Amino acid sequence: ILAILISAVLSYLLGSFNSSILVVRLLKHQDIREFGSHNAGLTNTLRCFGKGCAALTLVGDLAKGIVAVLLSKGICELLGTGLTAQNDVHFIGYIAGIFAILGHVFPIYYHFKGGKGVLVGVSVFLGIDWKVFLCLIVIFAVVLAISKYVSLGSIIAAACCPVVTFLFQFWQRGDLPMWYLWLNTGLAALMGAWVIYMHRTNIQRLKAGNENKFSFHSKKA
Ligand code: G3P
Repeated sequence: ILAILISAVLSYLLGSFNSSILVVRLLKHQDIREFGSHNAGLTNTLRCFGKGCAALTLVGDLAKGIVAVLLSKGICELLGTGLTAQNDVHFIGYIAGIFAILGHVFPIYYHFKGGKGVLVGVSVFLGIDWKVFLCLIVIFAVVLAISKYVSLGSIIAAACCPVVTFLFQFWQRGDLPMWYLWLNTGLAALMGAWVIYMHRTNIQRLKAGNENKFSFHSKKA
């Protein structure tokens, strides 16, 4: 329990470092939340401040999800909980992921107004199991290529999280108790559902037909 609590708190504090807010504030002296879709995330950073800021946001948000997972696994090993005795036991990674997303969406350092948790969410899967990460990225890329909507790609990939998680864990660690696979699948579902919930304004825009289409060209100098 102590290891889980420490992991959760550290992951939340780590997740609260919102890369797009930091990068845009440091390099452009602006608040990303006042531009474009008002979202403190990769897509809006690319849209409003260009490729350089977006690339740094990408690296920062990817890194923090991975670090949250690795840190939490390290804490479990340090405290000798046995949770990470088997390499494929992911429970603590999902706990870290949920709290890293919580920090990203409600950052303690930036008045609790952050991003939608897509990038940090997917980076958590990179820390847990790169095959699940790759599968989600492919799903996202295919939807984006067909629809040209980043938000739709994010929503579909988030919806696929529990299915992909269950299939890969079952395939790789079918020897683990079924309740354990379902527990991890449930945590992945929670992450996915939350990311989808954060896209509710995007869903309204998609329905109304006025959602922003993806473009590499920024709208602001
Ligand atoms: O990562 C968030 C993305 O799915 C949508 O971003 O700025 O178009 O609302 P945005």
